[in-house]
Amino acid sequence: MKLSRTDFMRTKPVLILFAGILITLLNACKTPDTDLIDQKVEKLLLQLTLEEKVSLIHGNTYFTTPAIPRLGIPALHLSDGPCGVREENDPYSWNSAGWLNDSTAYFPALTSLAATWNTDLATEFGTAYAGEAIDRGKDIMLAPGLNIHRTPLNGRNWEYMSEDPFLTSRFAVNFIKSTQAKSIAVCAKHYALNNQELDRLTINVEASERALREIYLPAFEASVKEAGVLSVMGAYNKFRGEFACQNVYLLKDILKGEWGFRGLVMSDWGATHSTMEAAQNGLDIEMLPLQGTKDSYYMGQPLLDSIKAGKLKADVIDDKVRRILYVMVKLDIIGKSEPDTSGMQARLGTPERAKTALKIAEESVIMLKNEQILPLNFNKIKTLAVIGDNAVRKHARGGGSTVIKAKYEISPLEGLQKQFSNTVNIKFSQGYKQSKDLKTVDKALIALAVKTAAASDAVILFAGLNHEPGLDSEGADKPDMKLPYGQDELIKAVLKANPNTVVVIIAGSPVEMGEWLANAKSLLFTSYLGMETGTALAKILSGEVNPSGKLTYTLPYKLEDSPAHLLGEYPGKTGTVTYNDDLLVGYRYFDTKNVKPMFPFGYGLSYTSFAYANPKVVLAGKNESLNCTISFDISNTGKTEGKEIAQVYVGDLESALPRPTKELKGFAKVSLKPGETKNVKVTLNQRAFQYYDPAKKQWVLEAGKFEILVGSSSQTILLKQQVEL
Ligand code: BGC
Repeated sequence: MKLSRTDFMRTKPVLILFAGILITLLNACKTPDTDLIDQKVEKLLLQLTLEEKVSLIHGNTYFTTPAIPRLGIPALHLSDGPCGVREENDPYSWNSAGWLNDSTAYFPALTSLAATWNTDLATEFGTAYAGEAIDRGKDIMLAPGLNIHRTPLNGRNWEYMSEDPFLTSRFAVNFIKSTQAKSIAVCAKHYALNNQELDRLTINVEASERALREIYLPAFEASVKEAGVLSVMGAYNKFRGEFACQNVYLLKDILKGEWGFRGLVMSDWGATHSTMEAAQNGLDIEMLPLQGTKDSYYMGQPLLDSIKAGKLKADVIDDKVRRILYVMVKLDIIGKSEPDTSGMQARLGTPERAKTALKIAEESVIMLKNEQILPLNFNKIKTLAVIGDNAVRKHARGGGSTVIKAKYEISPLEGLQKQFSNTVNIKFSQGYKQSKDLKTVDKALIALAVKTAAASDAVILFAGLNHEPGLDSEGADKPDMKLPYGQDELIKAVLKANPNTVVVIIAGSPVEMGEWLANAKSLLFTSYLGMETGTALAKILSGEVNPSGKLTYTLPYKLEDSPAHLLGEYPGKTGTVTYNDDLLVGYRYFDTKNVKPMFPFGYGLSYTSFAYANPKVVLAGKNESLNCTISFDISNTGKTEGKEIAQVYVGDLESALPRPTKELKGFAKVSLKPGETKNVKVTLNQRAFQYYDPAKKQWVLEAGKFEILVGSSSQTILLKQQVEL
């Protein structure tokens, strides 16, 4: 239909009214807060020279960006990492600055945090963690690590939370929200697909669009959309042939485009590979020049030259500076003086923050086996043998960038001595010792340990991994899934000498235990527990605390059972690793293909027992507002107070595209007194039923029947309900 001039004049007032309403509506979507931030950012942007803008988009020292004092633009102070604030670094090298006042709280690793399945603890962690960062004068903390445990061998699995994207997302969101609520920005890393350390600087990852969207990106997506994360770190590796720090699809199309990320993208340290591509494809700050010198930043002088030569438009730089200023305005640090860190040592690692570390540690320890040995009755034990290097090893100082100069770290032996040495004769025997090749067996140490074990009423054997290169450590992967230093031999010999032995494995990734598992009556499994390691373990072993952690990744019998190795590729061929395991990561493989792992995802025992009953499903709303609430009862059927983690999985019974048999979409941790029953409600939204359709380039909810499964692990399903959507 064509409007004549008179028609137009007649409808003009209506059109104007419409336009007015539209503008008002659009403005209403923008909060005054957003407006104010934008105004501040734009005002500063106008005053910056081109040289100043370029100076902002690369590092100054190893862990700061430059300040522009004439405009009150401060330096950004960055610091690792997920276990607390790293000791102060020398500005221009990886060496320590040698300060005497910067020892901090040492929090449990993120693997431990996730093993609690208690997202309130992620909130508490974030608050305590931000407190440490504030006291150390930091602005952006380089955590959380959100990569997925794809292979048991990844040297950094212990820094990441799980093989499951949903579980990782829930912890990420609470941790980010509570940290950023204290005006400390976090940096979600390593975006994306940095799932192995071997060849991490060069490896190219090929993964399907569905694996990308459904497995490897959800935690980053939730961090942006739900938690408003202020910064993201580009990974070292390539994805589909392009380095992650200059990957237009990951950075511009998905992160900044589809998800609407407003914060800044920084490179991993030394992960920038070009001037033009990095600048154009979405990197905002280059950290650590590849050649190590201050003048060799790709996004420094060469970038300035490119703009001056007209090869690159100046607005490319403006977008980056806008994002950096946006983060600074959000943190409210513009125009403020440098952080005051005088007297900081007294404020760091306070008893209150140590209490948070302890709470997380206590709730994260996983009991995998218990044939009536645990809890140990220390009143009846006269002589206790504590065996194993991990009984005395302190882990804070290792692992790579997550290294912590801890205010203190209570080892397992110290924890036991503190609590029980008044009444129990505790004898320590090292049992095994570190060796560079990881393989050397010290027969003399084994013989001594056997002797000590045989002469004791009970034995606690602390074995597992540590942060030595080639184990749970950055920059390399584990050579295999075996316990190093001849520990299998040690454990077998000790179990034979004294069957009254509790084995405690401290490790941040799967290890083989098949050689001795059948003979071990009790087995605890835990990742790195932070400054209160020994306190938490002593409480669990004595029953003062009931274990309530559950596995956040599957423990296969052997490496070859793991889908990345069985179906996929590792470490890749001629520089590329193809994820043929696709969606079948972790339990998605074991459950779909009916394979029994050594211990399934979500598994963990308690000193009490639980029963599940009365499942009911209530459906409400549609599409975006779909709410599917499953409720059920959990009862404590034993004699001890305890906490149970109920897991809700969804299975799609009819689907056009193949899907894993079931996927975790909800969980709840409930505390129950003996005999007590609680009704638990878990609400699932639309995303819980959707898959990513690569043809439609969107998440779709396919009408049909779904199964909602409630269980105490991914392979122990206790209740089932069907819904039709
Ligand atoms: C690691 C990052 C870390 C950075 C700074 C890199 O080697 O991959 O996780 O934040 O160093 O220490």
